[in-house]
Amino acid sequence: MAILEVEHICKAFSRMEVLKDISFSLEKGQAVSIIGSSGSGKTTLLRCLNFLERPDKGIIRVGGETLFDAGDPSTQSEAAIRKKRLHFGLVFQSFNLFPQYTALENVMLARELLASEQPDYKARKKEIQEEIHAQAGELLNQMGLSNRMGSYPHQLSGGQQQRVAIARALALTPDILCFDEPTSALDPELTGEVLKVIKELADKKTTMIIVTHEMAFARDVADHTIFMDDGVIVEQGDPRQVFEEPKEERTKQFLARFTQG
Ligand SMILES: Nc1ncnc2c1ncn2[C@@H]1O[C@H](COP(=O)(O)OP(=O)(O)OP(=O)(O)O)[C@@H](O)[C@H]1O
Ligand SMILES: [Mg+2]
Repeated sequence: MAILEVEHICKAFSRMEVLKDISFSLEKGQAVSIIGSSGSGKTTLLRCLNFLERPDKGIIRVGGETLFDAGDPSTQSEAAIRKKRLHFGLVFQSFNLFPQYTALENVMLARELLASEQPDYKARKKEIQEEIHAQAGELLNQMGLSNRMGSYPHQLSGGQQQRVAIARALALTPDILCFDEPTSALDPELTGEVLKVIKELADKKTTMIIVTHEMAFARDVADHTIFMDDGVIVEQGDPRQVFEEPKEERTKQFLARFTQG
């Protein structure tokens, strides 16, 4: 069964239609890459999936549960949406770490906040804290940052900061991890280290949506590729098919522009 089903999502800002009838689905353990030119609606789509934007039309289902249905106001209360956000992890282009906290604290923070809302928090505080601490350490270790846990964001390179941001997103064990151009703010020599950890996550069958301009990465790491243009999905399918034998003229033109550099 699909872990994510997106059906007929439409979104307009004022009168400009930015997403026009977007539908796709994602199986558990799959990685999807989304490519497309600037302004095609990729970020807006991720923001809709994370409920940072409210779609005008359409349905979003996770694990068979309808999280959002534009036609059903009962799915749209703020309290409900806050909880539903936890299904998705989001890693942005700019890392948005809290400057006043260490790498370890940045990874622990969201889970601590959630835990503190649990009824048994006071009674089990020490135990819960230790658990969260251990998990954050394990995640930073996975990101190759075991020796930088006590560093503050300004003491870390862009690539290191982005890996902390990935650990932070993973800490809440989201069903689906979303990346919005995770390397485009990085110097070229730091891009590789971030792509490497994302590739490792894909190898471990982490369910992911990756918006990227790294075409080789989009082709090689994903199980499925979506090409967007002007708010529509022009073409989607097996990455090798989309990249090597695109069916649509618009896909061919986009790829030709990219390979020319
Ligand atoms: N909050 C907003 N208000 C008005 N227009 C918006 C808003 N957010 C995005 N847009 C417009 O929606 C369109 C799609 O933007 P979006 O950021 O989704 O594109 P993108 O595919 O992520 O582009 P890029 O590759 O440059 O990141 C653009 O024309 C943009 O100007
Ligand atoms: Mg964008």
